Parts: sequence; structure tokens; C-alpha cells
Amino acid sequence: MSLNLVNPLKDKRLLLIIGGGIAAYKCLDLIRRVKERGMTVRTILTHGGAQFVTPLSLSALSGEKVYTDIFSLTDETEMGHIRLSREADVILVAPATADMMAKMAAGLADNLATTALLATDKPVMIAPSMNSRMWEHPATQRNLSKLKEDGILAIEPEEGDLACGENGAGRLADVDNIVKRLEKFFIPKGPLVGKHILITAGPTFESIDPVRYIANRSSGKQGYAIAKALRARGATVSLVSGPTNLAAPEGVHITHIQSAEEMLNACLKALPADVAICVAAVCDWRAASAQNQKIKKQDGVLPTLDLVENPDILKTLSCAADKRPDLVIGFAAETENIAENAKAKLKKKACDWIVANDVSTVDGKSVMGGNHNKVSFITSSQTENWENCLKDDVAHKLAQKIEDYFRKT
Ligand code: CTP
Repeated sequence: MSLNLVNPLKDKRLLLIIGGGIAAYKCLDLIRRVKERGMTVRTILTHGGAQFVTPLSLSALSGEKVYTDIFSLTDETEMGHIRLSREADVILVAPATADMMAKMAAGLADNLATTALLATDKPVMIAPSMNSRMWEHPATQRNLSKLKEDGILAIEPEEGDLACGENGAGRLADVDNIVKRLEKFFIPKGPLVGKHILITAGPTFESIDPVRYIANRSSGKQGYAIAKALRARGATVSLVSGPTNLAAPEGVHITHIQSAEEMLNACLKALPADVAICVAAVCDWRAASAQNQKIKKQDGVLPTLDLVENPDILKTLSCAADKRPDLVIGFAAETENIAENAKAKLKKKACDWIVANDVSTVDGKSVMGGNHNKVSFITSSQTENWENCLKDDVAHKLAQKIEDYFRKT
């Protein structure tokens, strides 16, 4: 179902640091292969690396500017080294020379590459390449252990004929293997791998005319937090979202919609799913006929606004005969008689679980738009109160319930 599972490199960003070794030329092939798989590649070419490959060939293949110098005013104004080191999903040092490994292990920052490596908050991989004696030297092996302790992933060199004429371990891992390691790195892991979860979030906007619309106060924060929590457990997540100010959680397939009808169509298109979670605050009504031109004010005469009911997405998914997800979860936004109203909704909408949401206030703070939530988790047989939680906590508790559900079934 998930594109990510088929092609885990798609839309991922690689910062490739090219060290000074003969194997640097293999980076050209590496760039070509990962780009073919949809990755964006930025490169930092070290002084040593530039003895083996040219910035021109790197930029021609990557389609990006090549960064070389920490003290380059142009580079720093265009893209500071800190940003360069963070605007990547992973950093790969290839070939990682003995000198580069030693500098990394010692935490030196004497050039653009080493500075970026210290400044980054992203995972780092190294693909070492050097003479076999250098590779086997206790100092290099000590540095390798240190780097592994620091959480750096090593793509170990292979055995074979080396460029120096000797034979042994030290040859840069085959480009194919480097690509496979990158793919493996991005394949989602966790208990919900293989599960497709559909989530609706945010408000809907129902057009009255080109200027005006009916909407509500939903920020989308709870739905986005759930999408993020489920993705972190390895699920393939399709998020159908009304207008919000939030960035799409990493690795989640997002479809932006405006109206309830668009939301329903996007949800039906995303089926089949193992779980559907309707968190969106869908507008109950829309204008019976939205106008193409702005409705003009007529002094003293009030216009009438005829409304029609919107489709109920939760109910539609719960009753989708052959495509009903195994688990359908609703939210119930209530301001009074929370539990009773929510239980009535559970039945009326034929869903399996409902998270009743007290949208009045939590300790004087508004739930709509805020970071806190006060909810009750309700099934046909149990009610649990999750008091005054952060929306992230509610997301993790719900993700845990889903994980438990699949473990038992
Ligand atoms: N819902 C939906 N489509 C709608 C209305 C609601 O999918 N047209 C979903 C919401 O995403 C939520 C659940 O139904 O999961 C309950 O939404 P809520 O707004 O609390 O209830 P309503 O059905 O709108 O009823 P009321 O406004 O009377 O409380």
C-alpha cells in the first residue's frame, strides 16, 4: 500500500560528504542511483575529495550547488553550514578516510565537512575506504568503535584488490550495498509496520461565496499528533487534512482538502485501510448553493443562507460494506454530558471506539487550538478517562491501544 515501503528513499534528503580517497569517484554513481529513487542530494566536497572528483561533475549529477569551504561568504549567506547540516534526513560520509574518522571521533571542526558533522542533529553514516593496514590499525578500529558508540552507523568496507595494489579489507562498500543500507535505514520499523491507517484532521471550510466560508476553531493538532505517533510505530499513515497551520508530520502521506465533500472523497480514495480515525471537526452543514460571485450587501436587507447537511465521513467509513477498516475510531467533541453523548455517537455512527473530547476548557485553557486535551476513551465495554493530557500524550495512548488491538487479533 505504502509508497514508502516500495521506495523508502523517495523524497528523502541526503547530505553526502565526500572524503579524500580514490573511491570518491564512486560517489558519482551513488548520487545517480539514489537520485533515480527520488532522493535529493546535496554534497560537501572536502579538499581531499576534490583531488579525485570535480565540483562540476557533482553539481551536474546532483542538480545542486556543491559546498566546499567553511569560510566562503557566498555559501554562508546562501546556506549556512548549520542549516546545510540540518536540512537533510541523513548524512553519509563516503569515502570516510582514516583521517576523517579520526577527526570525527575526536570532535574536530576544522573544515566545512567536520563542522557540519558536529553541528548536525541528523543521523550520520560512514562508508570507510582506505588501505587495509590503515583500516586494521588499532587507532582506526578505536575510532570506529568510538563513532559507533556515538550512534554513527558504519557501512563496513569490503575485502578485495585495493587501489594501492594491496589486497585486503578497505575497499569502499559496493555502491549497491550503500544504496541498500540507505533504503534499510528509511524502511519504517515498529509494531504497526504493514498497517495502513487513515486519519482525518483539522476543520473543513464550506464555501458561501469566493470570500466567505463556514468553518470552526479546530487547529488539527490532535489529528496531526496521532498521525505522527502512529508513523513512529511504523504504520503507513494517510492524513486527510482540512486547512491548518501545521507542517505535515514526516513520512505521512497528506492530502489537503477544504470541504467535507472533498474530505469524504479523499478518504474513500485512500481505502483500503486497516484503521480509520476521524479526528476532523467536519462542518455539519454547507451552503445549499455556494455562489461564484461575492454576495453584495443590500442596505437593510439581510440575505438568507440555506444550509444542507454534509456527509458524515465517520459513519460512511463505519458502514463501508466491503471496505470497512477493521477498526473505526471516532472523536466526539462535546461541551456537556460528555460520556452519555459520546456513547450515543458510538452507536449512531457504528464505530468501534470513540474518544470523547471535552472541548469546553482544560484548566481555563481552550482545547480547540490549545496543546492540552481532556478525553475519555470509550468502547462498547469500557470507559477510561485520560485527564488533562497533552495532545501528544493522547496520541501515544491511542496508538498504544491500536497496537494492543492488533497484537490480540
Ligand atoms: N464526523 C464526520 N463527518 C461529519 C461530522 C462528524 O466524520 N460530517 C466525525 C468527526 O470527525 C468525529 C465524529 O464524527 O469523529 C463526531 O463528530 P462531532 O462533531 O462530535 O459530532 P457530530 O456528528 O457533528 O454531532 P454534533 O455536532 O451534534 O455533536
